Amino acid sequence: MKKQWTRRSAAAIAMVATLLLSSHSFAASENSERVDPRNEAYATEYADQYDTWRSTSDSVQIEDALAEDPNMVILWAGYGFAKDYNKARGHFYAVDDVRETLRTAGPTDEKSGPMPMACWSCKSPDVGRVIEEQGEDGYFSGKWARLGSEIQNPIGCADCHDTRSEEFKNGGPALALTKPHVERAMDAIGKPFGDQSRLDQQAAVCGQCHVEYYFTGKTKAVKFPWDKGTTVDEMEEYYDEIGFKDWTHKVSKAPMLKAQHPGYETWRDGIHGKNKVTCVDCHMPKVTKEDGTVYTDHKVGNPFDRFEDTCANCHTQSKEMLQGVVATRKAQVLKMKLTAERQIVAAHFEAGAAWDAGATAKEMEQILQDIRHAQWRWDYAIASHGVHMHAPEVALEVLGTAVDKAADARTKLVRLLAKKGITDPIAIPDISTKAAAQKALGMDMDAMNAEKKHFLETVVPQWEEQAKERESRDYAPIK
Ligand code: HEC
Ligand code: HEC
Ligand code: HEC
Ligand code: HEC
Repeated sequence: MKKQWTRRSAAAIAMVATLLLSSHSFAASENSERVDPRNEAYATEYADQYDTWRSTSDSVQIEDALAEDPNMVILWAGYGFAKDYNKARGHFYAVDDVRETLRTAGPTDEKSGPMPMACWSCKSPDVGRVIEEQGEDGYFSGKWARLGSEIQNPIGCADCHDTRSEEFKNGGPALALTKPHVERAMDAIGKPFGDQSRLDQQAAVCGQCHVEYYFTGKTKAVKFPWDKGTTVDEMEEYYDEIGFKDWTHKVSKAPMLKAQHPGYETWRDGIHGKNKVTCVDCHMPKVTKEDGTVYTDHKVGNPFDRFEDTCANCHTQSKEMLQGVVATRKAQVLKMKLTAERQIVAAHFEAGAAWDAGATAKEMEQILQDIRHAQWRWDYAIASHGVHMHAPEVALEVLGTAVDKAADARTKLVRLLAKKGITDPIAIPDISTKAAAQKALGMDMDAMNAEKKHFLETVVPQWEEQAKERESRDYAPIK
């Protein structure tokens, strides 16, 4: 951590020095070299790591989470996730997928929205590069389309490694946090990266992105809400105290929180996290080649695909047996998830009906707070993909509290509705499919799809073109 900052400050000073005096004394410093974000640039020298990294592209399938569970359209009403939400696939597709999702809409120029620059932050090693070159404000300011031509390479080498260090150049890992907001977050929980053990660092590099975060301040910069800790209660308290909301719910008007993917946080609280079994033990195992040399398999994917190199390193049970355990837990989490959703969806519609019946803001205040907390808990428990494996007991416990909070809201709503003369149950519209739920909210999906198509056909090719020119100017050609 210290080392990182010193080097980064050295780079900043070097830049000023270039302008004002002479860069003489810094010319030889490591950081006068630009970060190379191009994954292909490492293909020859680090063939094993590159080839396995490249094969994250095998995970090509897109799964539509809203089609699978249309309740989520209602839960996210008024927010981008109600438009479209796909499950994660390979790291290789991160840039394609953020361009293609309806959530980023169809900007026509660098100023049009709707999303902030922050939406690139966990997609590309170009993010760390641009922050280093332009500073945090220089990166975060403005809308998402502003630096579309700068953010080009998908999640790769320079996201997890200090690629300019001697250690890396000599074939060592030189793991690094490559974004200052992540370093600050690790400091906030008392785990500065530079002081972390090798195992902790292995998990921390994944924790750069597989975490809860929010956008804050004038530039809508990324921050992790970890000042009070990383449990669901601690982050909820943090958000409540600063009065933060991601959006106002379209039906209930509740001040909502969107959990991102607190996988690092839930892993910490699970049995493997507590035993210092890290993400890398399961998702990036060490493999031995025929010639006896060992390297880290960079195909981050499903650990069951490489059972012998992952689970079987520590467990004697068979693959079928362990897969069975995980599948059972998945089913349990899914069942509780749907239970919580039914309650929260009903609460949103009942709150909507209460507003329609003339409820006042004061009468609604506590109810909306309960809805906010219920949904935050639901989201925390399920938005961290793989939680049924990483920390099923955490997921089930948190989902239990989500049901509880939703029940609190609904008990109060029944009383309030009765006070307003409404005693019949509140009808819920047809939300049996994704399309029906989007229609119930009055969303014009055809227009959104057309706008996206136009963007992908007109703006993205320009970005690609500009990026190609810039890279051929700034870097040596790839051999
Ligand atoms: C998501 C994070 C991540 C990305 C992306 C990533 N690495 Fe790694 N890399 C790791 C981890 C974790 C290790 C193992 C660290 C340890 O052993 O402590 C590692 C190890 C290495 C090592 C040390 C030798 C070895 O195999 O253990 C090299 C060299 C390396 N990576 C190169 C690359 C290259 C080249 C790329 C891009 C093509 C890349 N890495 C992308 C996380 C990453
Ligand atoms: C720079 C941000 C970033 C880092 C670092 C990162 N991830 Fe990811 N990860 C993502 C994003 C974004 C996706 C979703 C990509 C998509 O769907 O386009 C993803 C997807 C995944 C998936 C789903 C893959 C699939 O094929 O379905 C797994 C598993 C995963 N990451 C594990 C890890 C592990 C383990 C680490 C650390 C070694 C790590 N990630 C580091 C951002 C990151
Ligand atoms: C003990 C092994 C283990 C550890 C440790 C572990 N994972 Fe996983 N993870 C798995 C398994 C197994 C799955 C797939 C579960 C399944 O098949 O249902 C998974 C699934 C995932 C997924 C969802 C992939 C998808 O396509 O939906 C992500 C993302 C992920 N893990 C990231 C991480 C991160 C980040 C860490 C560390 C903070 C981590 N994992 C630690 C074993 C592990
Ligand atoms: C680096 C060693 C290591 C690896 C790799 C590993 N585990 Fe574990 N696992 C542990 C340890 C340690 C425990 C805790 C044992 C205890 O407390 O008795 C554990 C516990 C478990 C448990 C029982 C915990 C519970 O919640 O009841 C299951 C199930 C499990 N692991 C599944 C897996 C699966 C599946 C994989 C591969 C995807 C895996 N583990 C990979 C070390 C490992």
